[in-house]
Amino acid sequence: MVFHVLTIFPEFFRGPFEHGVVGRAIESGKVRIAVHNLRDWTSDRHKTVDDRPFGGGEGMLLKAEPIFLAAESIFQERRPDRKVVLLSPQGKLFDQAAARRLSEAAEVLLICGRYEGVDERVAGYLAHEELSIGDYVLSGGELAAAVVIDAVARLLPGVLGNEESALRESFSALEHGPGVLDCPQYTRPAEFRGWKVPEVLLSGNHEQIRRWRLEAALEKTARLRPELLEKLKN
Ligand code: ADE
Repeated sequence: MVFHVLTIFPEFFRGPFEHGVVGRAIESGKVRIAVHNLRDWTSDRHKTVDDRPFGGGEGMLLKAEPIFLAAESIFQERRPDRKVVLLSPQGKLFDQAAARRLSEAAEVLLICGRYEGVDERVAGYLAHEELSIGDYVLSGGELAAAVVIDAVARLLPGVLGNEESALRESFSALEHGPGVLDCPQYTRPAEFRGWKVPEVLLSGNHEQIRRWRLEAALEKTARLRPELLEKLKN
């Protein structure tokens, strides 16, 4: 799968993908990340990518034209397996279902918004989806693009090793839709600074362990993410 990233900070993407699962996926050729500098599609001396908003207001917006020109040169023809995504705090929430949807594509172009926003014609006539990674405002879409790439890449066939995929299947309810969170887990030592691992986990009784894990997962979900349980009921 190819991830194209359109940004005014191409250097940002030097580090994040050198390590871990995505780093290995790149090395083995299962994933390619092509970073494109938005300023390469400007034609004025100052390589201007932004302008003031019509109707007044604070700040600057990314202009439509360089973004359209870039997208049209990166994807010279539109195909159903090529997706264009705009990252912005106004987007639809990026969740595991969205990650799964994007993992079906052959190529994804991630457009990183900047400044106070992006000319709305990008969301309206260029992007298939406008996505937000959470209800908070970042100073740009670059971190969001990195989050999307990580979440999508690990769903691609062969990217996680067998063991990791098996773990994903059995433990991560969120991988299968909004559900309950993973259960709490512990490793050695059995007692750390006086805090003990729940006795049942040391018991070797698999049925009791299974029941404890389910209950602990439900308790933690109710405490930290009650809205997930509400979704389950509906
Ligand atoms: N750009 C700024 N904030 C963002 C967010 N929460 N998600 C995606 N892109 C963003």
